[in-house]
Amino acid sequence: MPAHLVCFEKACRKRYPVTEVIYNCPSCGGLLEVAYSEWTLDPERLKRVFRERRMSNAPLEQSGVWRYRELIPFLDDFGNVVTLREGNTPLLESPKAAAYGGLKNIAFKHQGFNPTGSFKDNGMTCGASQAIRLGMRRVACVSTGNTSASMSAYASAAGLQPIVFVPHGNIALGKLAQALEYGALTLQVEANFDQILALVRTLAERLGIYLLNSINPFRIEGQKSIAIEMMDQRDWRPPDWVVLPGGNLGNVSALGKAFRELRDLGFIPRLPRLAVIQAEGAAPFYRFMKAPRPGGFEPERRPETLATAIRIGAPVSWPKAWHEIEQSNGVVEQVSEEEIADAKAQIGRAGIGCEPASAATLAGIRKLTAAGVIDQEADVVAVLTGNLLKDPDYVHRYHTGQLKAADGRPVRGRFANKPVVVANDPDRIVELLSE
Ligand code: F0G
Repeated sequence: MPAHLVCFEKACRKRYPVTEVIYNCPSCGGLLEVAYSEWTLDPERLKRVFRERRMSNAPLEQSGVWRYRELIPFLDDFGNVVTLREGNTPLLESPKAAAYGGLKNIAFKHQGFNPTGSFKDNGMTCGASQAIRLGMRRVACVSTGNTSASMSAYASAAGLQPIVFVPHGNIALGKLAQALEYGALTLQVEANFDQILALVRTLAERLGIYLLNSINPFRIEGQKSIAIEMMDQRDWRPPDWVVLPGGNLGNVSALGKAFRELRDLGFIPRLPRLAVIQAEGAAPFYRFMKAPRPGGFEPERRPETLATAIRIGAPVSWPKAWHEIEQSNGVVEQVSEEEIADAKAQIGRAGIGCEPASAATLAGIRKLTAAGVIDQEADVVAVLTGNLLKDPDYVHRYHTGQLKAADGRPVRGRFANKPVVVANDPDRIVELLSE
């Protein structure tokens, strides 16, 4: 399958070989995407093949990414693949969470079931495999936490050196712990995500390090598998809506591309509408989409949210995200700290659980159904991007009434479940449980 890199800018569209180490178009600076020429497939045959592969014990077939390799055909040698059996994440229905969101039904595509606990693994298996193909020895990323956890694991599994840059003091402990345990050289920089990304982009070239942020188009190819697996699990019936949190906007770019390709190749009859939800304190894309104009993107200089995964003010992939929202007739919404925290507690009470950024989905759905944008009868899939255990500090603070926004304002939770301290006294415990 002839794969190439192509500039995303309509006015440019210059092509480059997939083996070139570039992150932006060398001609105009635009974002790059992976494209395929002479790409025709037999959907009905492949749908059967994908199912059969689930029975196999071969590593490539067990991966919920590489099982769908005909839909991400950028490698010419699968000997380069590094897999931790990523993907394979469940679609979980919950009438209880649906009711909270103002819906009859909802299903959560829970990416927190991935090997390092977030959706980043779907993309990282591709990014790391491409790094090996290119003969790179060191890989780096700037991260609000999950990308660094994922990259560290895949790099170490492949024998590459992981170097991670994280904002000092603004990453959840579970994620920092992962980077350290997976052996990354971890630099805690005294700056925010946007500032560090600008810094690292200049450093990558100087130091000959391969950059694995979501600006890397091979990561986006891998994250397409979230949509592909979702469709496989739904017998290729697209839902009405797919809802996801927005930070750097790589994931909406990936899912949008996947749904368009699946439609164009004949796997699904139509596109689902995409809804991107941002945290109020870090919602530059929400504001942009109120009055979109080319080149008129206004970054948020001081992004703030307790959902640290999406604490991003200058999302790199905004032109792609804009395109996908337009193509799918999608929407962008923003939600408050309280709305995120309470929606998260509700996802927990449904026995599912997720990290704060992921819960922006249900909070956004609740707002969009109340406003009549999403119909209560609609068929909705929300993507839960990360595992509950990523940010235990947030959970503990919420349930003990100690959650505070960046400015010190208390974030009051309506569903706090405070632990009870009790004496080592059977009578007292019986009394307590009889109340
Ligand atoms: N949810 C979680 C749990 C995330 O970690 C991220 C991004 C997002 C949502 C937003 O996805 O950036 O594709 O719009 N985390 C990145 C990181 C930035 O460094 O781990 P996006």
